[in-house]
Amino acid sequence: TPSEAPSSPFSLPSSLPPIPSIPGTDPERCVLDAFRAAIAQRVADALPPLTTEQVYQGVDYGKKGVDFTIALPRFRLPGKVDELAAKVLGKFQKDEWVESVVHDKAFLHFTVCTQTLNRLVLDQVHALTYAAPSTQPEYGINTSGKGKRVIIEYSSPNIAKSFHVGHLRSTIIGAFLANLYKACGWEVISMNYLGDWGTQFGLIAVGFEKYGSQEQLEKDPIKHLFDVYVKINADAEKDPNVKTEAAAFFKRMEDGDESALANWRVWRELSVRKYEGEYARLNVHFDVYTGESMVGKASQDLALNRLNEMGLIDDHEGAKLVNLEKFKLGKAVVRKKDGTSIYLTRDIGGAIERYEKYQFDKMIYVVSSQQDLHLAQFFKVLKLMEFPWADRLEHVNYGLVHGMSTRKGTVVFLEQIIREAGSVMHEQMRKNEDKYKNIEDPEEVAQEIGITGVKIQDMAAKRINNYNFNWDRMLSFEGDTGPYLQYAHVRISSISRKNPELLPLPPPAEIDTALLTEPQSRDIIFLLGSYPDVVKTALRTHEPSGVVTFAFRLSHAISSAWETVIVKGEPDTAKARARMWMYLCARDVLGAAMRLLSLKPLERM
Ligand code: ARG
Repeated sequence: TPSEAPSSPFSLPSSLPPIPSIPGTDPERCVLDAFRAAIAQRVADALPPLTTEQVYQGVDYGKKGVDFTIALPRFRLPGKVDELAAKVLGKFQKDEWVESVVHDKAFLHFTVCTQTLNRLVLDQVHALTYAAPSTQPEYGINTSGKGKRVIIEYSSPNIAKSFHVGHLRSTIIGAFLANLYKACGWEVISMNYLGDWGTQFGLIAVGFEKYGSQEQLEKDPIKHLFDVYVKINADAEKDPNVKTEAAAFFKRMEDGDESALANWRVWRELSVRKYEGEYARLNVHFDVYTGESMVGKASQDLALNRLNEMGLIDDHEGAKLVNLEKFKLGKAVVRKKDGTSIYLTRDIGGAIERYEKYQFDKMIYVVSSQQDLHLAQFFKVLKLMEFPWADRLEHVNYGLVHGMSTRKGTVVFLEQIIREAGSVMHEQMRKNEDKYKNIEDPEEVAQEIGITGVKIQDMAAKRINNYNFNWDRMLSFEGDTGPYLQYAHVRISSISRKNPELLPLPPPAEIDTALLTEPQSRDIIFLLGSYPDVVKTALRTHEPSGVVTFAFRLSHAISSAWETVIVKGEPDTAKARARMWMYLCARDVLGAAMRLLSLKPLERM
């Protein structure tokens, strides 16, 4: 409830007409809530017995050129739509919140007062962006998750196997979700659940004796282990003894034989360290590195026993399975014939352990839609076991990516993707020699823009869509691409450098926002006002695409204003300052949206 939430550094000025307070709204963090409340109040007053709260639920964003729209039929009131509309229009009086209302078929379109909009939105953006760091660091955030804890598991590559696009998508989407939940007040635990266990480690152990090199292992553990794996796998195809040997080795690992585990420990440790560097490069961070190997035997046995006691286990030629056919989820094997553990059972045991340790309010698994069945079986088994927290688990899935390769061939390592993104971008930048000369650290800049390109391509559409990995398209400065977005941020950031004579800007209260009269300014400001809603919607849908779309809309709005709503060359200093302040607020919000997407907004390029 709002009363428990920390107070916001912004509050509505008392000089404005009072507006009703509506549960679930928070004008101190989303000032458009106040405008919607003002609209709702008018309509409710004109159409009893509707309450302001009921109407509020029906205040939507309008189409182009309209601020807010209400579809009258949704309230199911007696009487004709025309009559209802006439009642609202008859009673309407403009004030400092609402400027006008228009009736159009089943709809009422509302325009809010530009003066108030300008003042409140810009004040709010400024106050929240520059609040003391100890309070609320950024505009757009909310407190809906206060006191709640979420575990977000993402990336989760397999050691000694390739890091494929599925892992890349999980990394990108998961990092976004971690930022998003934090922005909504949740305590977030970012977790990387490594594929660090399973029969392949028996194989690698056998392979390492034959092909391993300590030196190469230390130089590039991820690559070397992968090479060993590929070689020994080829041997195993030809020689069944290799497989038997590998299985025996893995059995020793499962039984906790220290001598069988020693090497494996080093491999894991070196791989994690290497990954950490690459994640840092991507601006991605984990609070916990765990893995399939860390799931205790005890919790897996506990799960199996409980399933057994509940009569949920069927025996099939020595293997144990849970019949989920009545849920259309097939049969889920939970124990192999030879008694070794498997992926599903580790997930079940892992969830039990995580609940004991963290008592999460929610746990999200960011895993490819190729594993939909696995996750559905896993969640269903937990429900059948009647864990009260079983419905706190959520699978955030995503579609496939086709054709991810470098110019040299197929991608197997995350490092290759990062490098290629940097080098392709670097070449691109070199083509414009004049510009290139002025860049301080071109390689660093190229790397950052390249990564932005990869991420934006990944998050631009709905998660479940498949897409084709395309270096040329994602790294172009034209169209809605990562480089374009960085460019938009750089250009707007240049405004302070280009207009030093206007600095420092006076405090907000002394900036005359009434001078922002152009429709282009209004478009920008209204968009800025909508950002907290963009964040809320993203939390509900778990879709980064809404935030990406917002960032591009804002960039386009800024770009449309740039030539007409000028700062440099504007003779009226008060006007120039008001405009500059608006652009700086726009930069702050664009930057906030980009950071939410795990990007690092650039100041120069
Ligand atoms: N390591 C797995 C893979 O690469 C993904 C792990 C997903 N998370 C989980 N809890 N099952 O396929």
